Amino acid sequence: MLILGVDIGGSGIKGAVVDTVTGELVTERHRIETPQPATPEAVAAILAQLVIHFNWSGLVGCGFPAAIQHGMPRTAANISPSFIGTNIDKLFSEATKCSCYTLNDADAAGMAEMHFGEGAGQSGVVLLITIGTGLGTVFFTDGKLLPNTELGHMYLKNGKKAEHYASDSVRKTEDLRWKRWGKRFNAYLTEMEKLFWPDLIILGGGASKHFDKFKGKITVEAPVKPAAFLNQAGIVGAALYAQSKNSFSDN
Ligand code: BGC
Repeated sequence: MLILGVDIGGSGIKGAVVDTVTGELVTERHRIETPQPATPEAVAAILAQLVIHFNWSGLVGCGFPAAIQHGMPRTAANISPSFIGTNIDKLFSEATKCSCYTLNDADAAGMAEMHFGEGAGQSGVVLLITIGTGLGTVFFTDGKLLPNTELGHMYLKNGKKAEHYASDSVRKTEDLRWKRWGKRFNAYLTEMEKLFWPDLIILGGGASKHFDKFKGKITVEAPVKPAAFLNQAGIVGAALYAQSKNSFSDN
């Protein structure tokens, strides 16, 4: 099935048409800057632009950088706080005239990796971390997703929130070299390992494509791998989510 997958991030909104049987992108990825401020209306207008760009009229899956509980954003770290409590699927569906289904962006990336990528067939506990404007987290136990974990907001020993210390946006604004940033990220991974003992850690988001530049700084025991889809995992997973919600509402 072909579904438009969209990854809504703090700095860019990226979309592509996904074949949900193979997990492949069947179009080029199209990216539009996230409007500032990223209000519900402004983001919905960008989604509508993406739908027009792809000349799309089918299902749309959206990964969104917030905990989404029963269709409503509950947090807003890197997006306008006016999203909190908005009926996001209704807003996006009305703006695009397509059926839109939205989930947390890290949960989306995790779905893609467990289905087609580095987590496929992996039992036990898998932790996926997306490294972008913020730090997104998702856990799977024997393939089952635990939604809306917000462990990028965990406080580290230095008193800082993990995503204010070791996200990709911090690397850019503080102009950190990959090795220096890698040490910071490893401090976060070390805390996560002590608390959750994952069997496998997968890294997605913008920084995942530079894994070679910082992997030397990673000292945790669990195997750490870049996502097979790198930073496209969110797009693919959002499409899978829309498919699962749509078939659920059909039954
Ligand atoms: C948000 C998460 C999101 C992550 C990555 C965090 O700031 O709270 O919901 O998954 O950023 O975008």
